[in-house]
Amino acid sequence: MSANTDKIKHLIELREEAKRGGGEKRIESQHAKGKLTARERIEILLDEGSFEEFDMFVKHRCTNFGIDKENYYGDGVVTGYGTIDGRLVYIFAQDFTVFGGSLSETLAAKICKVMDMAMKNGAPLIGINDSGGARIQEGVNSLAGYSEIFQRNILASGVVPQISAIFGPCAGGAVYSPALTDFIIMSKGTSYMFVTGPKVVKTVTGETVTQEQLGGASVHSTKSGVAHFVVDDENEGMTLIRKLLSYIPQNNLEDAPLSVCTDAIDRLEDTLNEIIPDNPNKPYDVLDVIAAIVDNGEYLESQKFFAPNVITCFARFNGQSVGIIANQPKYLAGVLDINASRKAARFIRFCDAFNIPIVTLEDVPGFLPGTGQEYGGIILHGAKLLFAYCEATVPKVTVILRKAYGGAYCVMSPKNLRGDINYSWPTGEIAVMGPSGAIEVLYAKELKAIEDPEAKAKFVAEKEQEYRDAFANPYNAAKYGYIDDVIEPRNTRFRIIRALQSLATKKLVNPAKKHSNIPL
Ligand code: HXC
Repeated sequence: MSANTDKIKHLIELREEAKRGGGEKRIESQHAKGKLTARERIEILLDEGSFEEFDMFVKHRCTNFGIDKENYYGDGVVTGYGTIDGRLVYIFAQDFTVFGGSLSETLAAKICKVMDMAMKNGAPLIGINDSGGARIQEGVNSLAGYSEIFQRNILASGVVPQISAIFGPCAGGAVYSPALTDFIIMSKGTSYMFVTGPKVVKTVTGETVTQEQLGGASVHSTKSGVAHFVVDDENEGMTLIRKLLSYIPQNNLEDAPLSVCTDAIDRLEDTLNEIIPDNPNKPYDVLDVIAAIVDNGEYLESQKFFAPNVITCFARFNGQSVGIIANQPKYLAGVLDINASRKAARFIRFCDAFNIPIVTLEDVPGFLPGTGQEYGGIILHGAKLLFAYCEATVPKVTVILRKAYGGAYCVMSPKNLRGDINYSWPTGEIAVMGPSGAIEVLYAKELKAIEDPEAKAKFVAEKEQEYRDAFANPYNAAKYGYIDDVIEPRNTRFRIIRALQSLATKKLVNPAKKHSNIPL
């Protein structure tokens, strides 16, 4: 055997050793918890055979607390690049079998290397998180590593898409790296995120709470809004990441990939002509409208279980990726509240940052009134939504389906916020407020003077009808050019596609500045 052959054999052995991570026992323990290993995750996610690994032979340099006696190749994270549907992505997957995937100085450097490469080459960054947090033995070197990652998350924000999958623990300050990325996916039952764990919570507040109750997937997908997607298992998570990437471009200088459209662009949907109930207080499901107008009825909802009174989803029109923001009359009558405003604002800003046109479907009775909302800062949170729409320079197409009342009309992408093409269905109602509220304000004196309840009811009914005749239609707004046309509901798909086609060459630039000051 030549010396070269020996060296190659040695390399192969080293690679095999590195691939074993923290060893067979720990891999078994990982599987027993219902989790995959870092390498298995990468293999499932990326196109077959496309993964190229970096830094397989990196080892930690710490000697504290005897940790130098235990040293594994790769040091708790697998990093590199590969492709998804043939498109380049950079990836890191924390390896829980090595010191619980805890973050060391060298592990952080490996992650930073792929982040820098993703930025340089304009490709998405995917992080798979499964870690015990800062490596305790490394002290401040570990904390410094986190900060290096955070800084890169922020520089990459709005430049390349960043996606975080949480498939295990993610605790302490470690949660802030995923929080700085664009989308967070959590697996049910095996992932959690919190700033302080149950033990610290008990000590500080006396509250007894489990990890799941404090920061499990269901908490973050319904209550906090931290997670954008929740999946039953990791395999589903990988499929979702691939699907999500199909809607978004590689970076902020490119457009999202164009799909081949197999759905007729002029498909008429007769059901839409009947979808708005005669009674203006009756709900319907706006998802039925979305399914009827987008290519093949397919869409991907972000934050499906958080603030369901507004829908945020990706879909395609004639193969072109769009972000849809739709009020959902099925929940809280589609009212805008704190959570709905935050949810929609963030989604709009993502779409705008990555050149994805925004389609707004509007049916909103206004902002939710009350002390709960006012004390919680609806003024600031509602302003975020307003800010996001105003700031956005991507093509903006809006269709008013029914109610467009008050401040909510002003916010939901009207022409005056640089909405490009604004349509209304004939069922549109564009007014300062709904009929009953308006009558109480306009005729307060008259109502006070009428004592007989029957006469009062008759008066109210008459005045409400008068108000409806004046405002419960789109033609008053159309008269002033605030909407460009009143369209037949069944033809909505075609009209949106034509509108988007006409806006394909849109150029709009905001004034130069260091950055804006969004009301955080
Ligand atoms: C070093 C760690 C570690 C850590 C886990 N391990 N966390 N080693 N530093 N932070 C090691 C364990 O010693 C163990 O080693 C292996 O990883 C697996 O851990 P287990 O405890 O056996 O696993 P499990 O029972 O599943 O529990 C997982 C866990 C728990 C809940 C994550 O390990 C844990 O509570 N770890 C500490 C979490 C923490 O408080 N981290 C610091 C957060 S503060 P062996 O050799 O037995 O396999 C923080 C600050 C960041 O992160 C600041 C950023 C700004």
